[in-house]
Amino acid sequence: MQIGILGAGSMGTGIAQLAAFNGHKVLLYDTSDKALVKSRDSLLKILNRMAEKGKISDADSKSIFGRIQFIEDKQSFVDSEMVIEAIIEKLEVKKAVFKEMETIVSDECILATNTSSLSVSAIASACQKPERVLGIHFFNPPFLMKLVEIIPALQTDEKIAEKAVKWVSDMGHLPVVAKDTPGFIVNRIARPFYGESLRILDEGIADAVTIDWAMTDIGGFKMGPFTLMDFIGNDVNYTVTETVFKAFFYDPRYKPSFTQQRMAMAGYLGRKSGRGYYDYREGAEKPKPNDDPELINYIFERVLVMLINEAADALYYQVATRDDIDTAMKYGVNYPKGLLKWADEFGIPEVIEFLEDLYELYREDRYRCSPLLRQMAYENNSFYED
Ligand SMILES: NC(=O)c1ccc[n+]([C@@H]2O[C@H](COP(=O)([O-])OP(=O)(O)OC[C@H]3O[C@@H](n4cnc5c(N)ncnc54)[C@H](O)[C@@H]3O)[C@@H](O)[C@H]2O)c1
Repeated sequence: MQIGILGAGSMGTGIAQLAAFNGHKVLLYDTSDKALVKSRDSLLKILNRMAEKGKISDADSKSIFGRIQFIEDKQSFVDSEMVIEAIIEKLEVKKAVFKEMETIVSDECILATNTSSLSVSAIASACQKPERVLGIHFFNPPFLMKLVEIIPALQTDEKIAEKAVKWVSDMGHLPVVAKDTPGFIVNRIARPFYGESLRILDEGIADAVTIDWAMTDIGGFKMGPFTLMDFIGNDVNYTVTETVFKAFFYDPRYKPSFTQQRMAMAGYLGRKSGRGYYDYREGAEKPKPNDDPELINYIFERVLVMLINEAADALYYQVATRDDIDTAMKYGVNYPKGLLKWADEFGIPEVIEFLEDLYELYREDRYRCSPLLRQMAYENNSFYED
């Protein structure tokens, strides 16, 4: 296929690498010449490194690179069968770009957005033929992260979504289908990993290193929430939290924490600024966790039940299927297990009991139990049969 990509930043460049690697012809466009040059240099470097490591042959490296064209005129997209937009995350800019794209490409060309937080239906509304518009949400870096969320807009033709699913799986990636709702699957369900951990910190129940220790040592998560927030950047993560909170019409479940906001305001952004929840400056000592077994077990279970509750609610509101929800969390954020599978193992009545205790203590809507969990406990059901 000929794939047009708008935006040669980190995502556009990664999507270009993946598509060209899989034999597609790629046209990469950016409004910034500098971005195009940087993208070209980084693709060349990545492909050379892959060849050096013996992952691909020299000839393959050359032909993959040869399949990518760096273009300065959008009119070159005229013969593209699909255009993927990976530009700045601003609704008005994306809408204008989609509207313009329709004047260039054929009626059959699929128009996809890689947006993380905007409504795909709102972007599609800018088009004359919104039925060919959908979300194809890659994770960073797109070549390595197998998960891809396919998000049909309200207007999207079912066949277009099916084509996108096939296109993604033909490249060896894992497509999951998500309803056009805030955060789609991963960025919605993962909120409590950060939010509940921050709440535990804010209440003085434990410090960051102890919470991280609980989630990695008992939970088996690859990175603790504070290490991960420092890695993502506290400014970036705060913006996502705030965006999701607003998009959910201020549902208290997604309420941001003052700590996170103040960290961003103070410039304690994490690794990139040398200081976040941890100190990354030279010579700084890593603090030691409190390894009180009762405490770390409480922390792990509290965060886990909040994650399970979020996953169950996403299923209840038909954001995605059971299997897609579990696949999304395993491959989009590397969780050690799917959360619905984990719910079965933990015991659905036990999850409910933990949530009810929290609700009883705080009397906050944040801790309300998903109706699906109650329904399942009432029917003595589990998410998986076995
Ligand atoms: N970075 C991530 O982890 C990540 C993950 C998933 C999705 N996304 C989404 O992907 C999109 C791109 O993110 P990114 O991290 O690659 O951003 P980025 O800032 O690295 O790159 C964006 C590029 O778009 C270019 N651009 C801006 N306006 C343009 C226009 N009108 N036409 C063409 N090019 C234009 C910029 O010059 C820049 O090179 C956003 O919608 C973002 O939400 C990002």
